[in-house]
Amino acid sequence: MFTLIKVKDYEAMSDEAFKVMKGVVADPKCVLGLATGSSPIGLYQRMIADHKENGTSYAEVTTFNLDEYVGLPKSHPESYYSFMHRNLFEGLDIREENIHIPEDGEDHDAKCREYDEAMQEYRVDLQVLGIGSNGHIGFNEPGTPFDSKTHIVTLKESTRKDNARFFEDDINKVPTHAITMGIDTIMHAKKVIIVASGANKADAIYAMMKGPVTEECPASILQKHPDVVVVVDEAAAAKL
Ligand code: F6R
Repeated sequence: MFTLIKVKDYEAMSDEAFKVMKGVVADPKCVLGLATGSSPIGLYQRMIADHKENGTSYAEVTTFNLDEYVGLPKSHPESYYSFMHRNLFEGLDIREENIHIPEDGEDHDAKCREYDEAMQEYRVDLQVLGIGSNGHIGFNEPGTPFDSKTHIVTLKESTRKDNARFFEDDINKVPTHAITMGIDTIMHAKKVIIVASGANKADAIYAMMKGPVTEECPASILQKHPDVVVVVDEAAAAKL
């Protein structure tokens, strides 16, 4: 079930998302599912400000990130490991051992299994999601089975094009593969919040909320989740 919160712009979207987050982190031992990308950065800034100003502690919080590029070292500025530390973790008192980010290795299947096993010990209280312009969630591209667990994906050309802005606008520098939490895993979260801003998200938001539930739009499976808060700005909501 969707709760739609429509606001003016990115800043207002981040404010609304933070209100939801604040309710969840009131439990000091909560488990968060986290996303990278431009959409949640404002939310993360508000979490850091709240930690610094109000002392909200993350010392007992556990996090699981959605995805990571394959083939980029952790130290690369565009690895999701670097992104998360730069944009969130370094500003909080979270413990490094409570942070989980999927990681590929020589044995791909074993690495994916390891991530699912680590997650099975927990239940995500709030999963933060962005949405791709093609309706992807995590790096689950159109066509990904709804029952997928953590797996390695080949990124679609459209996704690599969208992300080229982080790689000197050169699509050839964008990795071709990623490791991502599967759709089934995402659906296990107790609550989901999806943040989207900008006109290039309008079709995907429409397809997610009003279109058929189809693997061609991975986010459409969220129609079957009991508790999804959708926070969108006017441009992203334009087709609703
Ligand atoms: C990132 C992720 C992706 C992004 C999506 C939107 O961890 O899983 O699904 O949420 O590509 O990206 P932005 O927010 O940069 O538009």
